[in-house]
Amino acid sequence: MIIPERVKMVEVGPRDGLQNESVYVPTHIKIELIQRLADSGLSVVEATSFVSPKWVPQMADHSEVMAGIKRKPGVGYPVLVPNLKGFEAAVAAGAQEIAVFSAASENFSKKNTNCSIAEGLERFSAVCKAAHSRKIRVRGYISCALGCPYEGEVAPGKVADVAILLYDMGCYEISLGDTIGVGTPGKTKAMIEAVAERVPVDKLAGHFHDTYGQALANVYAALECGVSVIDSSVAGLGGCPYARGASGNVASEDVLYMLNGLGITTGVDLDKLVNAGQFISDYLGRQPVSKVSRAIAAKRA
Ligand code: HMG
Ligand code: MG
Repeated sequence: MIIPERVKMVEVGPRDGLQNESVYVPTHIKIELIQRLADSGLSVVEATSFVSPKWVPQMADHSEVMAGIKRKPGVGYPVLVPNLKGFEAAVAAGAQEIAVFSAASENFSKKNTNCSIAEGLERFSAVCKAAHSRKIRVRGYISCALGCPYEGEVAPGKVADVAILLYDMGCYEISLGDTIGVGTPGKTKAMIEAVAERVPVDKLAGHFHDTYGQALANVYAALECGVSVIDSSVAGLGGCPYARGASGNVASEDVLYMLNGLGITTGVDLDKLVNAGQFISDYLGRQPVSKVSRAIAAKRA
């Protein structure tokens, strides 16, 4: 089995992680977290989302976050956008890259974005056209790629159907999300193989949540399928407000430690990443979920 020599780590903690925190995290803390993550060598730090503040209050300070970050050359700071209204606000705030988010399950689409998959894709098609006319890159997400909190099993073919539509509207990368963390490595492989029959595997990313403790194994399964872009969240922050019981994303520190052990190049510094995770965990008043972070902290003590 040949696994990639280089992996792009897409850090989603400031968005996917913090969106789920019930206590409001002040803007300056979000900004410092984003800067620390960029300073660790990550080339993509998803910064915030321009969704309705009624739906996700934690992201209401999106424009202030974008105004406050000092952008590092070579680092992308994509933001989540659900519709043209969010797109216009993101552009006004200086976003240079956006991400749209669909789902492989109708019920989840309805709960998360108040519309069917087809209606959502129509919105995203308009967003993609507007973005591309301004030379703004668009990433696509598919939620519930390995299971849905409302519908249970999700067929790999359904994920592939949505993936090809996002790819055809010009998404440069499609992130396949195990939103509720129910996947196992065999299912992960079957799903990625089904999608890779329709969309080139170098355009796919793996996005795993760790609800059942399978996320790191699923990352490895994705690597074995040839996926070389992995989403993760520092300190294992996260969840999805519209997927009750879903726990955090796979911790960035744990992914990096594994990739380092496999001799895979990422450009990310583990110590700096651990410090960024410790910073936000200290603020939130709890230990990082990352086992690597805990092990390193114990060694430092
Ligand atoms: P809606 O209520 O159907 O929207 O929500 P609407 O178009 O009917 O408008 C209702 C009101 O919202 C109006 O305001 C609009 O102006 C406003 P009013 O007239 O009542 O004052 N509105 C907005 N305000 C700010 N920004 C906007 C916006 N759009 C409309 N962009 C909508 C539809 C899509 C907006 C809503 O459902 C929403 O914001 N959903 C986002 C939910 C979300 O952020 N979920 C988490 C992210 S997805 C995720 O975490 C999964 C992922 O990580 C991958 C994985 O793990 O699988 C990506
Ligand atoms: Mg997620």
